[in-house]
Amino acid sequence: MSKARDEERKAGAGGISRRAVLGGAALGLGGIGRVRAAAVEHRALPADFLWGTAISAYQSEGNNINSDAWVSEHVTPTLFREPSGDACDSYHRYAEDIAIAARLGFNCYRLGVEWARIEPSEGAFSNAELDHYARVLETCRAHGLKPVVTFNHFTTPIWFAARGGFEAPDSPDLFARYCRRAAEHLGGLMHLATTFNEANIQLLLQVMPGMSAALPAARAMIAASARATGSPRFSRLAYADPAVATPLMQEAHRKGYEAIKAARPDLPVGLSLTTQDIQPLGPNSSAAAWRDRLYGDWVRVARSHADFIGVQTYTRILVDATGPVAAPAGAELTAAGYEYYPQALANTIRWAHRAIGKPVYVTESGIATDDDRRRIAFIDQALAGVRDCLDEGIPVHSYLYWSLLDNFEWTSGYRMHFGLVAVDRRTFARTPKPSAVHLGAIARANRI
Ligand code: BGC
Repeated sequence: MSKARDEERKAGAGGISRRAVLGGAALGLGGIGRVRAAAVEHRALPADFLWGTAISAYQSEGNNINSDAWVSEHVTPTLFREPSGDACDSYHRYAEDIAIAARLGFNCYRLGVEWARIEPSEGAFSNAELDHYARVLETCRAHGLKPVVTFNHFTTPIWFAARGGFEAPDSPDLFARYCRRAAEHLGGLMHLATTFNEANIQLLLQVMPGMSAALPAARAMIAASARATGSPRFSRLAYADPAVATPLMQEAHRKGYEAIKAARPDLPVGLSLTTQDIQPLGPNSSAAAWRDRLYGDWVRVARSHADFIGVQTYTRILVDATGPVAAPAGAELTAAGYEYYPQALANTIRWAHRAIGKPVYVTESGIATDDDRRRIAFIDQALAGVRDCLDEGIPVHSYLYWSLLDNFEWTSGYRMHFGLVAVDRRTFARTPKPSAVHLGAIARANRI
C-alpha cells in the first residue's frame, strides 16, 4: 500500500463517510449498555462471510499439565512471566464463552483442541477428552457458530517434546496419527480446520526485532526443560532449530492434511501462517530476502496442500539495507511492544492472494491494549483493509479477531490484554468490552 494511502487511512479511520449506528442493547448483553458502533461503510459482504473470534486451547482452558509449555513455565530459568495455571477455566466454562460469542452476533468460533489431552501418553488416546471436544463443537453448532478447529496451536504433549518434538525424524507420522484420530472423532462437527497455528512461527522468532533478542534466553529455558524431563532431546515447536524442524513440520502438515481429509474428505483444511507485513525502508532494502526468510518453503507447501490460507497479522516489520529495524521514532506501539499498524492486514491478504492463490481467511487479527477505544479503532482500520481487498476482487472469507477473551499471552502471562471480553482472574467472570459489542454489531449487519 502506498504511503499516501496509509496516511489517508490514519487520518480518516478508514476513509469512512457514511455512518450507521448499531445498538448494543439490542444484543441482550446486560451491563454493556448501548454502544455506538463507530463509522461503518455500507459494503455488504457475502452471506457466508465468517465473523468471529479465535482462541487456543492452552491459552484459555487452564491446567494443561501434560503439555510441553507447562514444563517450561515451571523451570528455572524461564521466559514465562507467570504460569498459565487455571487460564480462563474455559475447559469448564466453554459453554459460557460460546454463548457470549453467539450473543454478540458472530457466526463462527475458532478454537483449538489440545493434543496433550487427546493423547496424554504416546499412542494412548483419551476417548473421554475427545468426547469433551465433541461437546464443545456441538455447543458451537447449537448456538449457530461454525467451528474452525486448530489441531495444533504451538503446544505438544510432554512425551512428544521429550522425544525431540519436531526435530525427531518420525514426528510427522506421530502428528498425522493424532490428526487422524481427532478428525475421525470430531471431523463431522467441524466447518473448517487448520493443522498448525502459524506453522512458520519459528521463522518469525528469527525475523521479528525483539523476539530474536529473546532467543538465547529461550535456549536456556529449553535446556532447563530438558533437565526437568530428563531428556536431552526436549524440543518445543516454537523454539526448535528451523533448519531441522521446518522441513519436518512441512512433512507433518502434508501428512496431517491428508489424515484429516481421509477422515472427512469434504472438510476444507487450511494452512495458517504468521503473516506480518514486511515493508522496505530506504535504499537497498533487504525486505524481499527477509520476506522469503519469514515464509521459507511454506508458500510452496500451501500451494500443494491447503484448501485455504489462514492469514494472521498483527503489525508490520520495516526492513532497511541491514535487516529488520525498530518502529519509527514516535510511532504508536501496542501493549505488545510492536507498532500499531492495522493497515498491515490488507497488505498481507494481498500478499497471500498473490503468492499462494488460494481462498484467504483472516484467522487472526488483533491488538493488545488496555484502551478499548484503540481496539475499536484498530478493528475499524483492519476491516477497512478487508473491504478494500474485497473491492479488489480478492476472495477473503473471514475476519476472526484474536481473541474472544483476555487470556494467557504465553511468556507475557496475563498482563497483556487482547480480548474483546475481560476475565476476572479470581472469579473467572466474563465482562464483554465495548469493542465486543462493536465488532458483534458489524458481524450481525454483515457490512463493512
Ligand atoms: C498467536 C496467539 C497469540 C497472539 C497474540 C498469535 O500469533 O496465534 O497464540 O496469543 O498471536 O500474540
